[in-house]
Amino acid sequence: MPRTANIPALHSPPVLEEAGRRRTFAVISHPDAGKSTLTEALALYASVIKDAGVTHGKSSRHGTVSDWMGLEQERGISISSAALQLNHRGAVLNVVDTPGHADFSEDTYRVLAAVDFAVMLIDAAKGFEPQTLKLLAVCRRRGLPIITVINKWDRPGLEALDLIDGVAGRTGMAPVPLTWPAGRAGAFTGLFDLRSGEAVRLEAVRGGALPSLETPVPGGSGAMEGQWREALEEAELVADSHGEFDREAFHAARQTPVLFTAAAKNFGVRQLLDVLAELGPAPSARATAEGGHQPVDAGFSGFVFKVQAGQDAAHRDHIAFLRVCSGIFERGMILTNARLGRPFATKYAHRVIGRSREVIDVAWPGDIVGLVNAASLRVGDSLYATEPVRFPEIPHFAPELFTVARAADPGRYKQFRRGITQLEHEGVVQVLRSDRRGEQAPVLAAVGALQFEVAQHRMAGEFHAPATFEALPYTLAMHVDAKGSSLPETFRGGEIMHRSDGEALALFADRYKLAHFREDNPGVELTDIGA
Ligand code: G4P
Repeated sequence: MPRTANIPALHSPPVLEEAGRRRTFAVISHPDAGKSTLTEALALYASVIKDAGVTHGKSSRHGTVSDWMGLEQERGISISSAALQLNHRGAVLNVVDTPGHADFSEDTYRVLAAVDFAVMLIDAAKGFEPQTLKLLAVCRRRGLPIITVINKWDRPGLEALDLIDGVAGRTGMAPVPLTWPAGRAGAFTGLFDLRSGEAVRLEAVRGGALPSLETPVPGGSGAMEGQWREALEEAELVADSHGEFDREAFHAARQTPVLFTAAAKNFGVRQLLDVLAELGPAPSARATAEGGHQPVDAGFSGFVFKVQAGQDAAHRDHIAFLRVCSGIFERGMILTNARLGRPFATKYAHRVIGRSREVIDVAWPGDIVGLVNAASLRVGDSLYATEPVRFPEIPHFAPELFTVARAADPGRYKQFRRGITQLEHEGVVQVLRSDRRGEQAPVLAAVGALQFEVAQHRMAGEFHAPATFEALPYTLAMHVDAKGSSLPETFRGGEIMHRSDGEALALFADRYKLAHFREDNPGVELTDIGA
């Protein structure tokens, strides 16, 4: 297969050529749709990962993905993996991990600020599930192109055409299948590659431990019978209603290419990898806070989208994950933190996969770099080498869980306050305060329960200020603006609190309380957080 049109020719300057080869994306899905299995399958085909900590299935994952943190060991979950780099057909794929499952947190959303597109994984039997919809909404707000992958086609599931209708309805994009399965869900025997017209019979090898066997089906579509003909007719039906694939429409998030897989058997995975490499958007000029665009071949710049700390109790270990936006990153560079106007030395730069860390010497636009000893860096910080640039803040996301934190030992209040402030700066949790509750009882807000667990763990282990958490009965928060008049601190079924960036948030028990508030306070403007 020739290298594709958007992989620049060899005479381009190296930074344009390297950026043009990058495909930086995240896999978004609901727990159990097969994200880990698919990621591992991609790695198997690209044959990069050996023992980097990605393992098959949940049962074997405990202790292998990442066990830096006691909490992770107890729960057998991964909080720490960051990005996986694969090579395929001349492209470099950066698969940025979106922590999911029980560890769903603001980090999951923030990752979507660091990628150029997303792969949305859907379980063929379940269709769209709540977590997928939440992540999809964030992708849509950011205008991210999305590749839809319908997984587990080897198991009984919904009708392909119904799933396609669901994609159109839920995403608002035109679904354009690039592969189509022969056989209903549960009888996955072969696959059409609708781009090449090639049809292959599929056979799993060693239960999915090796690439699947693909046997070309001779005779072309004219000679096809039975389920092959049916599959072709279905695919043509979809093309009739939603149109042909158009790369520009995909990159503009108007179309979503659709592929069918059975990740556990490695069915359809090679085809997906080809699509990622050949059609996935490369990094492009990135919007700046000032309203301009930073071209990929400008001097080095990047921004922090995730900060991770407290993995190693023995060393105060802070890793800031940086997405390179422009220029060449070289380890040892002295960068400037745009927020502080202060230098940051990049002596320690790593690629972090699970527990293993590999030193990174050079990185290009689209790559993810883990900066170690980065206690001064916060989520959203921009770093540059020479020409100053600031990227937009990563928005806050609407919290759904709220808890009051208090120092378990009032004698350690100073440490408690320091810890809460640090966790707030790192973006581990959002911290809300009000005069009524006082400084000693801030309210922590999160999108996932794990954020509280991490906060509690670090308060005790790292800041030596064990904290008690008392859950509040709220489930939603909105920005509130009284348009000059004063706001009540409490109201029927809720209260108003402030974030340290000055934003006032109204917290509600449920939608009904929100509706009451609107009735009672017609002059007050409520807006969605993160909208
Ligand atoms: P997640 O990261 O999205 O949560 O999903 P994960 O990969 O852990 O997959 C969830 C379960 O679904 C796993 O089974 C996995 O083997 C299975 N699975 C993933 N893709 C496919 C597929 O294409 N077909 C079928 N039939 N199953 C699939 P498990 O029982 O939880 O783990 P294990 O016993 O397989 O290790």
